[in-house]
Amino acid sequence: MREWCLHKSIIVIRQYKRRTPCGVPWRISRSGGEMTVVPRATQGYGLLVSGVLAFEEVDFPVLESESLFIRKAGEEITQQLYNFEDKGGRRVVLRPEITPSLARLVIKQGKSVSLPLKWFTIGQCWRYERMTRGRRREHYQWNMDIFGVSKVRAEAELIHAIVLLFERLGITSLDVGIRVSSRKVLQSVLEMHNIPEHLFTQVCVVVDKLGKITREEIEKELISVGVSSEAINGIIEVLSIKSLSKLEEVLGSEREAVADLKKLFSLAEHYGYSQWISFDASVVRGLAYYTGIVFEAFDREGKLRAICGGGRYDRLLSTFGSDDISACGFGFGDAVIIELLKEKGLLPDLVRQVDDIVFPLDSELEGPASMVVSSLRKKGRSVDLIEDKRLKWVFKHVERINAERLILVGNSEWQRGMVRVKILSTREEYDVSVDELV
Ligand code: HAM
Repeated sequence: MREWCLHKSIIVIRQYKRRTPCGVPWRISRSGGEMTVVPRATQGYGLLVSGVLAFEEVDFPVLESESLFIRKAGEEITQQLYNFEDKGGRRVVLRPEITPSLARLVIKQGKSVSLPLKWFTIGQCWRYERMTRGRRREHYQWNMDIFGVSKVRAEAELIHAIVLLFERLGITSLDVGIRVSSRKVLQSVLEMHNIPEHLFTQVCVVVDKLGKITREEIEKELISVGVSSEAINGIIEVLSIKSLSKLEEVLGSEREAVADLKKLFSLAEHYGYSQWISFDASVVRGLAYYTGIVFEAFDREGKLRAICGGGRYDRLLSTFGSDDISACGFGFGDAVIIELLKEKGLLPDLVRQVDDIVFPLDSELEGPASMVVSSLRKKGRSVDLIEDKRLKWVFKHVERINAERLILVGNSEWQRGMVRVKILSTREEYDVSVDELV
């Protein structure tokens, strides 16, 4: 029941009639037109899973200072900002992601903060992207982040949350897999080829485009960053590795990357989700701040883009001038998962749920009807008051929305302090006093 209530509480029904300049459907309506249930409903499960893992909810403004998102590594996200100058001459942005806002909050909490922090948030993000299947200019993101846990336990917990969400939606490990790697893999390769450390982030951002742009283009970009052709071959070779034992063979077992990944796979066995995850060195992720394990969930048929993604970012806080705290998290958008649910026929049934419909049989009875409605709502029932309709319409409406009861407020009953109750499922009818109506 709790699950259903949470799930139901954030359903938004929108009519896709007109669109804002950024392609966002904006008319909220319940009548006519093409009705679409905005996939925020799946975020309801995000809320639930975050609670199951004992995370605390946090929230942030959607309009942020542009400086929070300006990074110099050449990431796509920084070129996709909805940014402008406000009336006070400040550069602001509609946030493209939530992680920098989280980092700022951690910094604001200062040294007194009790670690670890386990936070989740669900909110809208904007990116000026080319709109394709599963890619929108406005999307909702469910984020879970842990600050102050340097061990791989943090990653194991976060991946557990993602798996729990899939399971609650009815998706299995045959439908979806989570590919895992570590940026330390690439770091080791760069060390092996004596590539200076300061090039690491830029190399990651370029290498993340593997498979999205041609190898020649990747090579060109890497050379312009300052990587030699020999190193490029080494990098691309390692990134094609798909097994941990092969990685160990190439890098040696002493490398942190290998130890971290082995630990994560061992923990996954204990959690019971190892069938969901696999090692894939090509997962690097496009955001500059990741430093360790990174992961992305994909549909196994390979039809869609990444469903969600995240990783460790132990050095983000120092980019804002603070001491670093180890951190790890993920972002899970609503756009790709809804495509997958549609494909699998697993879209949650989002019928409106109303317990009672209250209908005054006479316009003069609007006061008593209000009393009935108020009394029932105080008792926790979900109640709608219908007025100015024919009784025939009301009966049909009650059936259509599958309400549990119809409560008629009629003159003769009300004079005795009573109302008439009709139970839809049993067709039972009786009169009852308002006080006894529960
Ligand atoms: P991201 O990979 O850029 O990571 O986005 C995370 C997820 O948000 C994606 O996997 C996708 O589900 C969704 N998403 C992103 N852009 C769009 C879009 N244009 N349309 C639809 N869905 C989209 C981050 O944002 C990181 N801040 C995640 C994170 C949290 N890492 C650590 N903590």
